[in-house]
Amino acid sequence: MKPDTHLAHAGRDPAANQGIVNPPVYHASTVLFPTVAALEERTRAPFDGVYYGRYGTPTTFAFEEAVSGLEGGFKAVSLPSGQAALTTALMAVTQAGDHVLVTDSVYGPTRGFCDSVLRQFGVETEYYDPRVGAGIAALIRPNTAAVYVESPGSLTFEVQDVPAIASAARAAAVNRPLAVLMDNTWATPLFFKPFAHGVTISIHAATKYIVGHSDAMLGAIVCANEETWLQVKRTAVRLGTCAGPDDIYLGLRGMRTLSVRLARHGATGLALADWLAARPEVARVIHPARPDHPDHALWRRDFSGASGLFAFALKPVPKAAVAAMLDQMRLFRMGYSWGGFESLILPTDPAKVRTATRWEEPGPLIRVHAGLEDVDDLKADLADGFARLQAAS
Ligand SMILES: Cc1ncc(COP(=O)(O)O)c(C=O)c1O
Repeated sequence: MKPDTHLAHAGRDPAANQGIVNPPVYHASTVLFPTVAALEERTRAPFDGVYYGRYGTPTTFAFEEAVSGLEGGFKAVSLPSGQAALTTALMAVTQAGDHVLVTDSVYGPTRGFCDSVLRQFGVETEYYDPRVGAGIAALIRPNTAAVYVESPGSLTFEVQDVPAIASAARAAAVNRPLAVLMDNTWATPLFFKPFAHGVTISIHAATKYIVGHSDAMLGAIVCANEETWLQVKRTAVRLGTCAGPDDIYLGLRGMRTLSVRLARHGATGLALADWLAARPEVARVIHPARPDHPDHALWRRDFSGASGLFAFALKPVPKAAVAAMLDQMRLFRMGYSWGGFESLILPTDPAKVRTATRWEEPGPLIRVHAGLEDVDDLKADLADGFARLQAAS
């Protein structure tokens, strides 16, 4: 099935549900077993069906089937947030004494987890230049358990050479298996296929584009093979990180329109990026789908589309001028969680969250999420903002 057909049909079985189009939302903790034999059989293989609320229900499995099938993975595990997905995935593949390599462009709270909880449990994190490519081989140690990529980085939008990183890291890790984890939230399972590029575990903040309406927290981990899936599933069950049924349902509902929404987010994002690039106040636009992005060739090679999140750097201006611009936007509002139908704008400071590389842009960096509004209205809002910025500079 082509992706759009998969999105319309995955995880649905109306015949098993009185002809109703969508699967029911199962609210469940206890699952009853008719006999001792049935109880024992399911306890021996708890992942082979419905066993206990925390292990998932048909609602959970429907969502997981939709996400995993779209991405081309073996199976998925759903979690109560994107952060729960990435922390569970990291815990699943590491143990005390291990070393993990994490891109310096990583989402800030991922770094926060590595530098606190992972460290507390005896796992050392080393950050690497997102543009390291095959050079990752030089950083592999005998105890390196995982390489973590996020492409593009969700603040600074470096596109990573994921296939080069994955194959060089694996070749250098001679004595033990090495997991390649990817935060694929920006591209969603539609625009980047992690398993065709050497990734073993794909992580999604489904809170963003998959849910798509800014009204639920949800995460998903998709695994390349059965062994990895079992490792991740067992970890999620042991940690107790199970997502709530209503939020899972919103994730599944979001999947139905993911492709049409992303086409619009992507087109509007690129139109805004091009418009911003022509503004005198803007030093540079950082959008992987623009030919002037330093990693544009990699994006063209590996991605089949762009979502609506990108950044632009202003020429140096006082902080008060940025505030004058952003405080009174009518349509672009300030908030962290992107991927919904509404446009967002956010001042960011990547210099503060880097350790392996330096962020040397002289002017302020602004992150934009292109929503589903009319693009001309969005441009008008930005133009008014630039007028306020000019007046306050
Ligand atoms: C790239 C990326 N990964 C993970 C997360 C965490 O997702 P959640 O907010 O669902 O915990 C976010 C949230 O902003 C994100 O931007």
